[in-house]
Amino acid sequence: MEFVTLENRNGIKLKLTNYGGIVSELHVPDRSGAFADVTLGFETLEEYESQDFPYFGALVGRFANRIAGGRFALDGVVYDQLALNDGENHLHGGKRGFDRVVWDMERVSGDGYSGVVLRYLSVDGEEGYPGNLRTTVTYKLTDRDEWVIDYEASTDKPTIFNPTNHAYFNLAGHDSGSVMGHEMQIAAKGFTPTDAAGIPTGEIMALEGTGLDFRQPKPLGRDIESDDPFIDIVGGYDHNFALREAPGELALAAVVYEPESGREMKVYTTEPGMQLYTANFLQGALAGKGGYRYQRRDAFCLETQHYPDSPNHPQFPSTVLRPGHTFRSQTVYAFSAR
Ligand code: GLA
Repeated sequence: MEFVTLENRNGIKLKLTNYGGIVSELHVPDRSGAFADVTLGFETLEEYESQDFPYFGALVGRFANRIAGGRFALDGVVYDQLALNDGENHLHGGKRGFDRVVWDMERVSGDGYSGVVLRYLSVDGEEGYPGNLRTTVTYKLTDRDEWVIDYEASTDKPTIFNPTNHAYFNLAGHDSGSVMGHEMQIAAKGFTPTDAAGIPTGEIMALEGTGLDFRQPKPLGRDIESDDPFIDIVGGYDHNFALREAPGELALAAVVYEPESGREMKVYTTEPGMQLYTANFLQGALAGKGGYRYQRRDAFCLETQHYPDSPNHPQFPSTVLRPGHTFRSQTVYAFSAR
């Protein structure tokens, strides 16, 4: 296991490790050119390995988000049981998911970028999933100030797959406190309401009139304490936004702006969904880089993915991956300042 630091021609630095594919540092400039590390994390491998931490910067898989009861049917076969690690449900790949394994890592570079290729073979039955699944994730840092993530996978048995990266961002700096002043805009068509355990009801609801309507930019904090039942039920933002009905071309999913520093982050994805999570479960228990203790709402996550619990909702875009097919997905986090 090791750390690698990528640097682009504008001085942006992205530090990562092949343990969990974790991005532990990301230094980007503000409007005056001053750099800050805008992602939450730790300094040492030992801290990542020895602590229970909520996926800071990590790859998540095989299936990001929840699968009700850790159970699903595929081609008439019932897969019972995926690892249960969120009450009665399966979350983020189980007890030892992509975030907790060591990936093979190779450095790559090309015209206008440098990066790494991460590879992992998840064996048939791992965490309860069928099929030997070969996953390749490429991280690139480009001279256009983008962090590009490409996912590819193939399997030898029909299976389900839905990876993401779970980076926690704070555009004022990872140690600068609440992100409630960040302005968020999300190009969504609707959202998938859930029960209190975060399991979708199966509906896709309109955003209009809810606290989840970010179609025009608004501060993350504006409606978070309102009595909106959809926000209340999960204690903040922890929602999947339906960007479109099927995966497609790379498209703008979100723009986040931090008014004091002027830093802006745009998220582009080929995925049909994106989870907005406002670190509702952080509570000062984890000391991150520089000893700073991460508190509730000190960061936001925009986890591009398919909808939660898709295998149990045939009306959601499919997460089935079959032998002979290659899964491909791309997400881009693009940084600027104004
Ligand atoms: C996702 C989930 C949250 C939480 C975080 C990590 O965003 O939806 O409920 O599990 O991951 O703590």
